[in-house]
Amino acid sequence: MTYKIAVIPGDGTGPEVVAEGLKVLQAVAGPAEIKFEFVTYDLGGERYKRTGEILPDSVLEELRGFRAIYLGAIGHPEVKPGILEKGLLLRLRFSLDQYINLRPVILYPGVETPLKDKGPEDINFVVVRENTEGLYAGAGGVLKYGTPDEVAVQESINTRKGVDRCLKFAFELTRRRNKAKKLTLVGKTNVLTFAFDLWERAFYEMARDYPDITTDYAHVDATCMWMVKNPEWFDVIVTDNMFGDIITDLGAIIQGGMGIAAGGNLNPEGVSMFEPIGGSAPKYTGLNIINPLAAIAAAQMMLDYLGEVKAAAAVEEAIKTVCARHLKSLQAGKMGYSTTEVGDLVARYAVDYYK
Ligand code: IPM
Ligand code: MN
Repeated sequence: MTYKIAVIPGDGTGPEVVAEGLKVLQAVAGPAEIKFEFVTYDLGGERYKRTGEILPDSVLEELRGFRAIYLGAIGHPEVKPGILEKGLLLRLRFSLDQYINLRPVILYPGVETPLKDKGPEDINFVVVRENTEGLYAGAGGVLKYGTPDEVAVQESINTRKGVDRCLKFAFELTRRRNKAKKLTLVGKTNVLTFAFDLWERAFYEMARDYPDITTDYAHVDATCMWMVKNPEWFDVIVTDNMFGDIITDLGAIIQGGMGIAAGGNLNPEGVSMFEPIGGSAPKYTGLNIINPLAAIAAAQMMLDYLGEVKAAAAVEEAIKTVCARHLKSLQAGKMGYSTTEVGDLVARYAVDYYK
């Protein structure tokens, strides 16, 4: 089996962490009896500064021909915020219709969490974030820009089809995960009475087809509180784009920080894209001190998504072992190992898994 993967290392520390992810993928490819064909794309802040190009249409068309995309980080200190995010990251998510943003929140043994008295048995859930609609759809506009009478409108778009396909994915995932079999809809039905009325109706209608799954609902503000106070209550969370964005940063910190948090932008019928969810961390660039585990975990999610379940398990176990036995901290510069050493360790344990 040969998988054609597009690689977008991107900005800042993106290339360094992607290199470690590729190292681990290449290491497991042998024992897993698979092959990868990686094609690297030079996209991001540097290219934009050099050529003014963000994501040429021709490149976007080429990307449609890959089995998956592996992305490092997007964001450059000399490029105005919003340009690369919208022009590259969001454009990829939207154009490739990656309608699910899947973000596991798992605390591995030996990893420090800021939550008092909580451990790996308490923090193990998945957030299913809708990834193509809501406030991110870019609907809205301005009137009388820059005047005292300025009006700014930003609309949340929620389509029945978009909500249904997201819910469907979440119900199916909850069933497959086979843990507490509980799916929590996170919204704001008490204030966003148009958008979340649609979500809520669609949710309970679909729940009838999943009698084995316990449904629950929580407002997004209360969810932030429960994620800190009782994270063990969650199994799978499904929510809209904006709320999903916000609560997954909270999720990242309770699982040990941006050094470990990974996500997948999924189009189950098309081309999916896997990325560490932290940013480009410009101040750590080139120092060989950034934590590559989030990027490696993104590669692991990609393996799982490709159906290479054993290889994914090998990488996950390797990440766990490295966290438990080696790293002093998950923070850049405090790991007790360099970026490349962490990649070496994970690669070695992942291969050992097959022995
Ligand atoms: C994320 C990021 C992006 C988002 C930004 C960079 C556009 O915060 O992946 O969570 O808001 O989705
Ligand atoms: Mn975010």
